[in-house]
Amino acid sequence: MSKKIKVVTIGGGSSYTPELVEGFIKRYDEFPISELWLVDIEEGRHKLEIVGEMAKRMVEAAGINCKVYLTLDRREALKDADFVTTQLRVGLLEARILDERIPLSHGLIGQETNGAGGIFKALRTIPVILDIVEEMKELCPEAWLINFTNPSGMVTEAVLRYGNWNKVVGLCNIPINAVYEEAAILNEKPSDLFFQFAGINHLHWHTVVDKNGVNRTDELIKKVYEDGEANSIVANIKDNRLIFEQVENLHMVPCPYHNYYYYTDKMLAEELEDFKNHGTRAEKVKKIEAELYELYKDPDLNYKPKQLEERGGARYSDAACETITSIYNDKRTTMTVSTRNNGTIKDLPDDCAVEVTCTLTGKGPIPYNFGSFKPQERGLLQLMKAMEELTIEAAVTGDRGTLLQAFMMNPLITSGDVAKQVMEELLEAHKKHLPNFFQ
Ligand code: G6P
Repeated sequence: MSKKIKVVTIGGGSSYTPELVEGFIKRYDEFPISELWLVDIEEGRHKLEIVGEMAKRMVEAAGINCKVYLTLDRREALKDADFVTTQLRVGLLEARILDERIPLSHGLIGQETNGAGGIFKALRTIPVILDIVEEMKELCPEAWLINFTNPSGMVTEAVLRYGNWNKVVGLCNIPINAVYEEAAILNEKPSDLFFQFAGINHLHWHTVVDKNGVNRTDELIKKVYEDGEANSIVANIKDNRLIFEQVENLHMVPCPYHNYYYYTDKMLAEELEDFKNHGTRAEKVKKIEAELYELYKDPDLNYKPKQLEERGGARYSDAACETITSIYNDKRTTMTVSTRNNGTIKDLPDDCAVEVTCTLTGKGPIPYNFGSFKPQERGLLQLMKAMEELTIEAAVTGDRGTLLQAFMMNPLITSGDVAKQVMEELLEAHKKHLPNFFQ
């Protein structure tokens, strides 16, 4: 790796960027980043300028020797990069609003990464990420791609399977949030516990063992689900609805997104209520974002404002910056990321992406072996992975038949007739971001 360390962040105008900058500042001793290139597209220019100036102030206030560049020229930015992070949203928040509103208006879950909306986010995003990978092959073939663009697991799998690019790590903040929140519930320091996560992005389960080798999972389940000590792990999903008897029987802790699958009716009823009264989550996020950018405009603001915690992605920079620092220093940190299965979970194909606890080395993530799930987890997991496989294939080929199969399989799309109708409506609504379907 060159002495100069160049990091490129695509989707740099995102309101999350101050999180990322804070993460780099905190780790500067271990990871002396010299250039941070924030890249965006024309439609994101205004945001890039606001957040970019804020990033410059943060770096200056921290007194670190890092230059922040703002650009709309992705190729110029990628040249000789060491790490490329992706946090883009194809079609901006307007597209997410459609992903949520259209299914809801047909009585289906409308959610950023799950159900019909999640499938369409994958269709829009995967071709763009694969273009970035092609540019990386030419302009920075040694670089690592650290992806947190959603749906993070499917995007990572597309890069591995269709981009033929192995230097990719898929990230999400759910595991890191669970580690912090649940260590507190168990009255332990996160570093004194070992969490083993296994599954796929936004659909995984975990166990926890303490430094004496005692399995603390059942104790945690009791505290969280019977005694009601759960705080929501992420801001975008309200407190847990899962019932103690079921989770107790799993002997594993499910992630917050399981609520959508185990309690679809309750989640839908709440979403519809919100939809009727205040609009979708995406519309709420739009308001939070507008407030954040107003704050970021303040020339005296040089630290990450508290309001950013209202977004679901809190702590994502800890995941991202720690991953980068670990790869750079061969630190062998234990982290949960999306990576190639390679036999880690025996119930899933070797070449798919799984989200599992790994040791992060200079050569990338090495998963802790997991083995097999019991039928109660395995069934849902295999169904969802097959659904993801079809979605990724549809994103790459633009094949409507494949897409319809993914829709029919998705447990949150509850009826065939509605599936077809919602699929057609979403295709039409997102036409300009789906060139593979409209050639
Ligand atoms: C969670 C998920 C992220 C997702 C976010 C949405 O944290 O792990 O993948 O991006 O929620 O949050 P938002 O504030 O955009 O609804």
